[in-house]
Amino acid sequence: MSTATATVGVGLGSRSYEVRIGAGLLARAGGELRPFLARPRVAIVTDRTVAALHLAALEAALAAEGIAASVLALAPGEGAKGWEGLSRTVEWLLAAQVERHDLVVALGGGVIGDLAGFAAAILRRGVRFVQIPTTLLAQVDSSVGGKTGINTPQGKNLVGAFHQPVLVLADTRLLATLPGRDLRAGYGEVVKYGLLGDADFFAWLEREGPALLAGDGAARARAVERSVAMKAAIVARDETETGERALLNLGHTFAHALEAATGYSDRLLHGEAVTIGCGLALDLSVRLGLCGADAPARLRAHLDGVGARARLADVPGPLPDPAGLVALMAQDKKVVDGRPRFVLVRGIGAAFVAEDVPAAAVAGVLEAALH
Ligand code: NAD
Ligand code: GLY
Repeated sequence: MSTATATVGVGLGSRSYEVRIGAGLLARAGGELRPFLARPRVAIVTDRTVAALHLAALEAALAAEGIAASVLALAPGEGAKGWEGLSRTVEWLLAAQVERHDLVVALGGGVIGDLAGFAAAILRRGVRFVQIPTTLLAQVDSSVGGKTGINTPQGKNLVGAFHQPVLVLADTRLLATLPGRDLRAGYGEVVKYGLLGDADFFAWLEREGPALLAGDGAARARAVERSVAMKAAIVARDETETGERALLNLGHTFAHALEAATGYSDRLLHGEAVTIGCGLALDLSVRLGLCGADAPARLRAHLDGVGARARLADVPGPLPDPAGLVALMAQDKKVVDGRPRFVLVRGIGAAFVAEDVPAAAVAGVLEAALH
């Protein structure tokens, strides 16, 4: 059974595409993909967890339209998103004789989307790809906007390319199998949109977030649609992050330091790091006199209410001291002249980019949060 589909356009001239959002889209994937195919075959990159749950449905939907599929299923988790996973994926795509006009399909969370998208970007100097995001994080953020890449020993996402998909199919029903922890981690990215540019959406999440997380399909679809619409509008204005797109990095300067400190491991998922990072970015805004203390208090009250990780104290195990965390920020991609950039707020829904934040203020926020 399928229900209504919402469509959000990402307007990028000749690289424009649609993000289709709705419950039951996977079962219609054959018809959705057919117009993009030069010949009736695709190469699917996924991970083994997603494959066990959702690959058969995708293959059946493709077969119903006479589309053949070859499949690479990698180990689940961030570890796949490195040089080894990239070379394995590219070599598999070449062995599968994927040609310039073929289509690569990324079926999975942000790890698979980033990896398969980057592999498609460099294969034969660029092959088209489709995102079928299966996590909340991927549906609201990583599948849209064309950032692809891998992690290296020096840090996260330091090697990559902008390569836009030709289509995104976000089937919100796939979220039903997502573990609660991953769902809550992705929810942090949803909250991020409210914080950075839409106070009404934040207030809506305060009301509807618990239902959304408990499985309310309409609330999930609405949250994905609003998040994607916000991201699409920003990406259309600033595809390669020369300005406004940096707002989407709210919480990320703190998050990347925390992820590095916890070894990009299950100790702290990316979405959890972003959620905690958003709280710290609001704390920093308060410390700099930009907004009232009610903003981070309101954020944490909401996150506590839905059982999301909201504080440094929610990270299990020891963390570096403030100076150590500040040092880890220096490796962030967004560093300018050695100084990290922060997204700060003047209140919920009013974010801006700041490049001249005193290191002492950042250390002060971390000191207070760690004790
Ligand atoms: P993920 O891809 O590792 O998925 C999380 C876990 O959920 C995995 O174990 C996966 O196997 C499992 N899973 C996926 N879909 C499932 C489903 N429907 N049911 C059950 N299990 C399922 O992690 P993620 O949180 O989706 O993505 C994180 C990655 O996204 C990070 O590498 C981050 O850097 C990247 N990211 C990229 C962008 C971008 O703009 N490109 C934006 C945000 C994050
Ligand atoms: N996730 C941040 C961006 O896509 O720009």
